[in-house]
Amino acid sequence: MWHPRSWREKPAKHIPEDYPDPQALVAVEAELASYPPLVFAGEVRTLKDRLAQVARGEAFLLQGGDCAESFKEFSADNIRDTFRVLLQMAVALTYGAAVPVVKVGRMAGQFGKPRSSPVETQGDVTLPSYRGDNINGMDFTAESRVPDPQRLLRAYGQSAATLNLIRAFAKGGYASLRNVHRWNLEFASGPQNERYTEIADRISDAMAFMDACGLTDFNSRALSEVEFYTSHEALLLGYEEAMTRTDSVSGDPYDTSAHMVWIGDRTRQLDGAHIEFCKGIKNPIGVKCGPTLEPDELIGLIDALNPDDEAGRIVLIARFGTDKIANHLPALVRKVQEEGRTVVWSSDPMHGNTIKADNGYKTRPVSSVLGEVEQFFDIVRGEGAYPGGVHFEMTGQDVTECLGGLQAISEGDLSARYHTHCDPRLNATQALELAFTLAERLRAVRERKAA
Ligand code: PEP
Ligand code: CO
Repeated sequence: MWHPRSWREKPAKHIPEDYPDPQALVAVEAELASYPPLVFAGEVRTLKDRLAQVARGEAFLLQGGDCAESFKEFSADNIRDTFRVLLQMAVALTYGAAVPVVKVGRMAGQFGKPRSSPVETQGDVTLPSYRGDNINGMDFTAESRVPDPQRLLRAYGQSAATLNLIRAFAKGGYASLRNVHRWNLEFASGPQNERYTEIADRISDAMAFMDACGLTDFNSRALSEVEFYTSHEALLLGYEEAMTRTDSVSGDPYDTSAHMVWIGDRTRQLDGAHIEFCKGIKNPIGVKCGPTLEPDELIGLIDALNPDDEAGRIVLIARFGTDKIANHLPALVRKVQEEGRTVVWSSDPMHGNTIKADNGYKTRPVSSVLGEVEQFFDIVRGEGAYPGGVHFEMTGQDVTECLGGLQAISEGDLSARYHTHCDPRLNATQALELAFTLAERLRAVRERKAA
């Protein structure tokens, strides 16, 4: 029988077991369980309906945000800037794909990280790895790397404040189409960005036409507000369990820490704790699909998580790398098509394209990111399925973490503003370039189809 704690009977990877005072962790989890939910089950159901539209090819999913949120980078400006860039990307993609774009932030709860090694060595000192600000600290000292349960309470508080600000921006007028379009015009008028003016101008034309027809009531909700959802990796199951509540309307369990959660490529074992936990909650579930995933295994995961084949429940997030996707993705898509399962296919072109620069920085070339998404679109379409979304690690700040793009960030530039707490993120300009480029491609596909 499933229960919010039944995952505790299963093997669990990437959940810390070295809390010095396990009782203190139990007390914190009990406290969290008494706190208000961060999201409401009704919102989660609406997101599921939106994702069902994506599964049918009637909408497109844009998911993005930090690799890891941190206590240090927590500020109104950072939240606002990432939110704003996501909206700008969404407007470009709405135009390109000519369907609604479902906007989901990796925000308001994306703290815990699975790490490739449990330890980190610098010189002749080896310490436990940094595992995300809700577990331990990034400073390379023995004290800082000790897991501290109080960090979970702080992460909850930061998530609540972040979500509060996002809700204010989404519904309070900041996110109006007029504002977002003005920001896109500014972006497209920047040096070297002329190639994007065509899209921006076409959106201007469409808006002028609607205006002339009397269709643009800029106070209407459609034009002044946006729906925005939150998501994070369901890694730290003690926290997710504490945030799981029975919805009074449906009587079903919902994980109220975010609208959507996903299972990482390292924790998707069919008999493991993370699948067990996600089986029982009613939220939409993302499953990261990496190079070791076999087609039969994928069907096993889909059936475990979505036995009734509910549309909008499963988002498969392909993350192979630009040099591997062609070898792995076709068989997975084919199998899901043959078995007739209803899923959203999305592309995470970040996690398979991480390299180490000669100067030691972990980075990602924008060209590889674009290369993987383009192959993703072709492969999924080629198998007769719908490429329904993209998943980016990005920030609204002008960081120097990924290589290339119009700013031509080089290895030597990386040290200038390398602020990430985990993986390298696209900066605002790189994220917008990608969205505008994808919008162009999506429009070209539509025009080919119409011809
Ligand atoms: C992530 O999304 O930050 C992540 C760790 O991804 P993956 O599980 O795909 O490696
Ligand atoms: Co990451």
